[in-house]
Amino acid sequence: MIYFGCDYYPEQWAQWLAEGEARWETDAALMAEAGLNVVRLAEFAWGLLEPAQDRFDFTWLDRAVEVLGRHGLKVVMCTPTPTPPPWLLYQSPEIRQIMADGRQQGAGTRREACANQPVYRERSRIISQAIASRYAQNPHVVGWQTDNEFGCHGSAICYCGECETAFQHWLQAKYMDLEMLNEAWGGSFWGEVYADWRHIPAPTQSAAERSPSHLLDYQRFSSDTWRDYHNMEIDILRATCPGHFVTHNLMSFFEPLNYYNLCAQLDFVSWDNYHYHGATPGVVAATHDHMWGILRRNFWVMEQQIGHINWSVYNPEPGPGFLRLKSYQGIGHGADGMVYFRWRQALAGSEQYHTGMLDHAGRKTIGYEEAKVIGNELKTLAPYLEGTVPAAEVAILLDFESRWAMTMQPHNALLRSGVAPDSVNPSPIMRVDRDERREDQQMTGNAHAMWPFAAPYIALWERNVGAAIISPDSDLSGYKVVCAPFLNIVRPAVAKRLAAYVAQGGTLIIGPRSGFKDEHNKLFAQPQPGPLAALTGSTVRYIDSMEPERLNVLRWNNVPHMHRTEVGIWAELLEPQPGTETIAYYSNGWYANEPAITHKKHEGGGQVIYVGCMGGPDLYANLWDWLLPPLHVQPPLAPVVGVEVCVRAAPDGRKVVFVLNHSSQPHAMTLAHPLTDLLTGETHQRSLALKPHQVVIFQEVAATAHA
Ligand code: GAL
Repeated sequence: MIYFGCDYYPEQWAQWLAEGEARWETDAALMAEAGLNVVRLAEFAWGLLEPAQDRFDFTWLDRAVEVLGRHGLKVVMCTPTPTPPPWLLYQSPEIRQIMADGRQQGAGTRREACANQPVYRERSRIISQAIASRYAQNPHVVGWQTDNEFGCHGSAICYCGECETAFQHWLQAKYMDLEMLNEAWGGSFWGEVYADWRHIPAPTQSAAERSPSHLLDYQRFSSDTWRDYHNMEIDILRATCPGHFVTHNLMSFFEPLNYYNLCAQLDFVSWDNYHYHGATPGVVAATHDHMWGILRRNFWVMEQQIGHINWSVYNPEPGPGFLRLKSYQGIGHGADGMVYFRWRQALAGSEQYHTGMLDHAGRKTIGYEEAKVIGNELKTLAPYLEGTVPAAEVAILLDFESRWAMTMQPHNALLRSGVAPDSVNPSPIMRVDRDERREDQQMTGNAHAMWPFAAPYIALWERNVGAAIISPDSDLSGYKVVCAPFLNIVRPAVAKRLAAYVAQGGTLIIGPRSGFKDEHNKLFAQPQPGPLAALTGSTVRYIDSMEPERLNVLRWNNVPHMHRTEVGIWAELLEPQPGTETIAYYSNGWYANEPAITHKKHEGGGQVIYVGCMGGPDLYANLWDWLLPPLHVQPPLAPVVGVEVCVRAAPDGRKVVFVLNHSSQPHAMTLAHPLTDLLTGETHQRSLALKPHQVVIFQEVAATAHA
């Protein structure tokens, strides 16, 4: 089944409206009318559930669950730990995080607490246990969301005294011996050789740049801190509510926490899908695939934006068609739960300008009306979706530690992760999507954080070829092509895994700056790409970090049908060894005619392409069009700009194909054989006419259906 619901705050409406709790009946009836079957509750309600230390009041929440349950709505309950209550913050002001500049976080909003502070941890444990015990047997509760968006609002890293001490212990457990740490960090640079564990500081804001090895370990430690805190909550829920699922709502291409580790103990992950400025359809598709890849399991969208939001650069009202398109895009990429944020626009608090399924005055919004349509459609679709997962023959590897290493030493302002390059001109190659309305669409805000994973992904997405975005520690054997666009840090186990994949006949693409760093964030003493050099059959002689306006053009060699390709930001001059072919040279500047991309064929049919330059989707468009046809990786429908096609497939060969017209223009798709629309029953013969923003869902498309 597909869970379909909304994020609801009954406590707010009981306080804000004269009718008080009586409103819950009206709300629940309206939810049921829209076809909703699940409601998420209480993630910020700690202050109401425990108004004074150890004095709990669950009675209001019991009543709300009962009203919702009576209307056939199931509940995802939350541990309310992102919002420590005022009494706790007053009693124990030390639980507030210390920021890199030494200032303490203010109290009175959310996410201000440090997970290493013993009082916060203990009180989190107590409230989590109390709420778990209260709802373990409740027939309406089906599962749990832990906390809310770990790391949000810059809270992933804290620099308080508790963290500093915990970091020293973490290092001690990791290195055992200080000599090992000094060697691992290469401390002879600037004489940072430690003689006592207590001398190692938390890497706060400093006069000069910190050692990247020190920074990397602090990032790992901070990520482990939240993982351990998270596991504390998960353990309570598992022990107390064995019949319930446990999930957590993640944030897009969020970088500071290693999501693979943070989520390892969950049943499935969820994420919050907001279409901030720059979240073009391709970026959103990539995020869904990233979410699927964290546990390689279907996921939920726990907060799907329903209309305008309140926190982006601009906050346009998306209008009719938006919610249906976004909901089916999520489901098409593997969402088995679709929950809308929020039920009703808030009358108070900091998010008053964020719309809901009802507006502030309780009127139904476009989102509500559209949800009602989707709710009915899902009843038809659910049986077809049973047992299906997003289809992908290509895997893109996303490694958190490599992303951290790039953030620590970007070596080019355009590669500063997560930061829109507003102080520098954007590079023309950093195109995100071919959005018809904005041909110039550049990466901004969060979307920028997915660079350079975007380039290979978007080019596949534009070709209707499904891709999984997964960890380099995953089993790669099921994929025809594996692309590691940015594997800056290469651990020995990863090098071994990639070599085994190629030895078994796999096609591997390795992007620039890969194999530059060891697991301590130090350069290797060997030529780059270090432990991957035997695989690539070429090494890096020089690197060039380019100004935004300076581009180079590739001269393709010995590969047919390549289009003109501009590259920029980063160029490596490669030295192919005998037996390795150069497939592209640079054309301009002092390194004109030096190799930019090489190709090595391995015994057993394996091949490795080393891409020494950074390019946008146009670079990868060339590579995919060259590589994919011989490997029989084919799109289900011939691509049309502005239209996305994604597929969910079952092991028995059943397929559900989602055709999503993201553009405000009508489009026509060519069909190789007649197809029947699952929702309308209408059969389309040789072509499919799509209205602006239309969604059409088919069951099964023969492999030959592409034009
Ligand atoms: C999410 C958050 C919600 C709400 C929403 C507003 O990041 O989880 O609680 O703040 O953003 O868009």
